[in-house]
Amino acid sequence: MDHFAFMQGSLHAEGVSMARVASAAGTPTFVYSAATLRHHVRALRQAFAELAPLICFSVKSCPNLSVLRCVAAEGCGMDVVSPGELRRAMEAGVPSDRIAYAGVGKSAEAIEQAIAVGVGCLNVESAEELETVARVAAEARRPVSLALRVNPDVDAHTHRHTTTGTRATKFGVCVERAEELFERLRDHSFARLEGVHLHIGSPVLQPDRYTAAISVVLDMVDRLQARGHPIRVLDLGGGFGADYEHGQSPSPMDYATAIVPPLRRLRDRGVRFLLEPGRFVAANAGVLLVRVVRVKREAGKTFVICDAGMNALLRPSHYDAFHFIWPVAPGAAFVPGHRGADPGVHGLQACDVVGPLCETGDYLALDRPLPPLRAGDLLAVFTAGAYGMSMASRYNAQPLPAEVLVEGDRATLVRHRESLEELVQHERNPRPLDA
Ligand code: LLP
Repeated sequence: MDHFAFMQGSLHAEGVSMARVASAAGTPTFVYSAATLRHHVRALRQAFAELAPLICFSVKSCPNLSVLRCVAAEGCGMDVVSPGELRRAMEAGVPSDRIAYAGVGKSAEAIEQAIAVGVGCLNVESAEELETVARVAAEARRPVSLALRVNPDVDAHTHRHTTTGTRATKFGVCVERAEELFERLRDHSFARLEGVHLHIGSPVLQPDRYTAAISVVLDMVDRLQARGHPIRVLDLGGGFGADYEHGQSPSPMDYATAIVPPLRRLRDRGVRFLLEPGRFVAANAGVLLVRVVRVKREAGKTFVICDAGMNALLRPSHYDAFHFIWPVAPGAAFVPGHRGADPGVHGLQACDVVGPLCETGDYLALDRPLPPLRAGDLLAVFTAGAYGMSMASRYNAQPLPAEVLVEGDRATLVRHRESLEELVQHERNPRPLDA
């Protein structure tokens, strides 16, 4: 469910017309709906109420400060994976004890900083990293609560680039190694290994994949607790799907039905739970507005050439991802029945929706049936709130898009469009390097 809808033949986010946003902010622009962000957080909280998890919004999915503030105001913590994301979460006012810090390649400096600010949970990915964490914590004489990321060797059946729970990937440690590391850190005065972290992929569209991963770590937790290890936290990671096409993703209730029952016994033993949703919260809370520069007909094909492509939204090109695309003001005859490959409208024509970059992989959709389009038309690319702006690039010296947050009837520019001056400013003053 989201708050983007066609009213009188024209797309609105909550009470704000997307055509007006595009006139005021230009294109390409990401537009987020605060009501949709909140709705998604509440839906998750409700579905998982029995476990009362701390919902740590995954900053990597949509790191704009105003989006983070909006989600934090719903009581969320944050999942961060770099000093930059930690800075964003702190700047958004998120209390440090509500921050879970993950990432397979944290430097010693990053670990020092995370311990210094007092993150709620530091998620450790390897024996080697654990050694560094233990040393840094001991040197700083600061206690830190750690969760060990366990790789359960469960295939999430998602894109190969976003599969993270199988042994072939760089993430986490196997169960046997995990148990050995809990023993090794037993009674460490500062590095307190007291949690388990899981994240098997993104998106995970089969809830039973979570059940499979959980059953692997449950047995392990039982053994560890029996040996006197205080397991206080289970971080279940992210991976909940979003509807790129209508009805595609399981609901929060579907996920909770698979996840909650096996965890009741841990809850009864006082274990706290963390969720790290990114896509579920942000994807359908954002659209990308682009303008048609030209419609080119050549070699029996129609190319709708837009003012942004893979530079603003990499997902179609990088993951073969489907994003519903539709004119912002299609007129009454072309209002789509639903979002999907076949939107249930007559009189469409197959087009390649492409960007301006010098690369064949620069597209938003291939062979997509769309209403008749002309230069100057505005298009909305839906479900672009997660991994849109956060993966945008300046390839071909394209300035980064603007971002707008809508709340009711109010639209706020929450990131200005990068200027050509900003594109070159970091290279203006070369200086000798003392190397
Ligand atoms: N926790 C950890 C440890 C993660 O690695 C991720 C995502 C999340 C939470 C949030 O996952 P989510 O709830 O958003 O599925 N760029 C890709 C997605 C990469 C996800 C990376 N890790 C895409 O556009 O599909």
